[in-house]
Amino acid sequence: MDELALRGRQVLITGATNGIGLAAAEALAARGANVAIVGRAQTRTKVAEALVRARAAPGGTVSTHVADLSSQAAVRKLAADILARYGKLDVLLNNAGAMYTTRQVSVDGIELTWALNHLAPFLLTKLLLDRLKASAPSRIITTASDAHLGATVPFDDLNAERSYRGFGRYKETKLANILFTSELARRLEGSNVTAHSFHPGLVSSGFNRNNGLLMDMAMLLLRPISRNVQKGAETLVWLATSPDVVSTNGRYFVDMQSRLPSPQAQDVAAARRLWEISEAQCASVLSRNKGGS
Ligand SMILES: NC(=O)c1ccc[n+]([C@@H]2O[C@H](COP(=O)([O-])OP(=O)(O)OC[C@H]3O[C@@H](n4cnc5c(N)ncnc54)[C@H](OP(=O)(O)O)[C@@H]3O)[C@@H](O)[C@H]2O)c1
Repeated sequence: MDELALRGRQVLITGATNGIGLAAAEALAARGANVAIVGRAQTRTKVAEALVRARAAPGGTVSTHVADLSSQAAVRKLAADILARYGKLDVLLNNAGAMYTTRQVSVDGIELTWALNHLAPFLLTKLLLDRLKASAPSRIITTASDAHLGATVPFDDLNAERSYRGFGRYKETKLANILFTSELARRLEGSNVTAHSFHPGLVSSGFNRNNGLLMDMAMLLLRPISRNVQKGAETLVWLATSPDVVSTNGRYFVDMQSRLPSPQAQDVAAARRLWEISEAQCASVLSRNKGGS
């Protein structure tokens, strides 16, 4: 997809109210894409909409959706809204994510980092997959991280009940992003839909600013060696637009180069197991929610 071909293409991006997602939304709108931004809070989403609109190329549209992605009911409602609103979906950017230094649980009783960073993109992608297939050639890109290095999927303690360390948990979810992407790519073979993940680098964004004064100060100290958000969004925008990646699938990228992730992230059996367990987790929340309604 070159700049011209991006015109008229429908892109959906989560975590677009700040940081890497907002910078990517601005860049894609500037290139003529129709950009749908997903935010968690109405006010911040409206502010982001105005910023993206100010950068948008003539003719491109900017639309908004509000959803707390840590809630599976909200993810399901978001997907239903998207399917009703857009006849086609060319690019899905799963970008929203966060780290929590203390263990919290989502409204569904799922540890919050896992709910937001892994299960939300997993469920949203699954719910939008038929539309993405019908819109092929289309792309799914998930913001992962080199933080996955050294992590393993805690299959015996998925809800982090036995032990919880904020950064350790974050690392596990970023590993899950890469395993999800590679399993998704295998399942998409022959569909002309591609799935890739990437590491944006250390980026000076709102990341880790939700964890109190100490973490706030740590992020400020890291600022001199961090990239700005535009640089952090570069590989995301490239993956969404470049013709160079149409013939590859399931890869992990850093600075627009395909890189091998950790051995744990290349484990095909773990990727399949994670997929099946994630399906079961989503099904169990759905049946609980149905039972309660
Ligand atoms: N910054 C880095 O150095 C770095 C490095 C590697 C990977 N990453 C990854 O990059 C992605 C973007 O992070 P960022 O650095 O741009 O951080 P950020 O500035 O904090 O942006 C995170 C975005 O996610 C949204 N979000 C958070 N919780 C949400 C929820 N429950 N429901 C819906 N949206 C939610 C935020 O919305 P609000 O505006 O409402 O908070 C915001 O738009 C994440 O997946 C992160 O893991 C970041």
